[in-house]
Amino acid sequence: MTTTLADNIRFLRALITRPKSIGALFPSSPALARAMARQIDPHAGPVLEIGVGTGVISEAILEHGVSPDRLTLLEYDEEMARHLAERFARATVIQGDAFDLDRTLAGQRDTIFGAIVSSIPLLNHPVPRRRGYMEALAKRLTPSGVIIQFSYGPNAPVAPPQGYAVTRADLVLANIPPAQVWVYRKA
Ligand SMILES: C[S@@+](CC[C@H](N)C(=O)[O-])C[C@H]1O[C@@H](n2cnc3c(N)ncnc32)[C@H](O)[C@@H]1O
Repeated sequence: MTTTLADNIRFLRALITRPKSIGALFPSSPALARAMARQIDPHAGPVLEIGVGTGVISEAILEHGVSPDRLTLLEYDEEMARHLAERFARATVIQGDAFDLDRTLAGQRDTIFGAIVSSIPLLNHPVPRRRGYMEALAKRLTPSGVIIQFSYGPNAPVAPPQGYAVTRADLVLANIPPAQVWVYRKA
């Protein structure tokens, strides 16, 4: 699992252009990527990753055993999305806005996911927008499905959607900055 110099440059360029939506100085470390991927049951259904960036978590998801033809990668940044489509040619790559999920996933209107892995920097958004985002994700989950989100803060970045609970699944010190992994599932 590697982040190349080209990946770092791509990330930095996006950070300079849209700091609020990138929300980190570096791509996630391999340790954080693995900690996120570990929360997925690779046989539980299709997987949606949101806020993919350079693809470090996508790589961990594939190494964890998710088949690329069951993986959808959603990224807002056009250059990153183009790169992801080349790098993960067997996955479905969608360029679009995760806060407008129904429109962005229009081509997968009926797909229900076993896991949604999100790296959106939620703390950069107002609470009502975060809540709306999580409610929209929950509508796309199987009954046993999970939403996996990391944050750099001490608390879960958003309250669970209606009928869900959140647990802290991991604390990854080998990341800059250290990150917590949160898992939301039906209560
Ligand atoms: C903190 S970076 C994480 C990148 C990568 N997952 C990682 O862990 O290194 C956040 C990513 O979310 C993307 N992003 C931010 N807002 C988004 C939105 N509304 N829809 C889709 N992607 C978004 C950014 O372009 C960026 O690639």
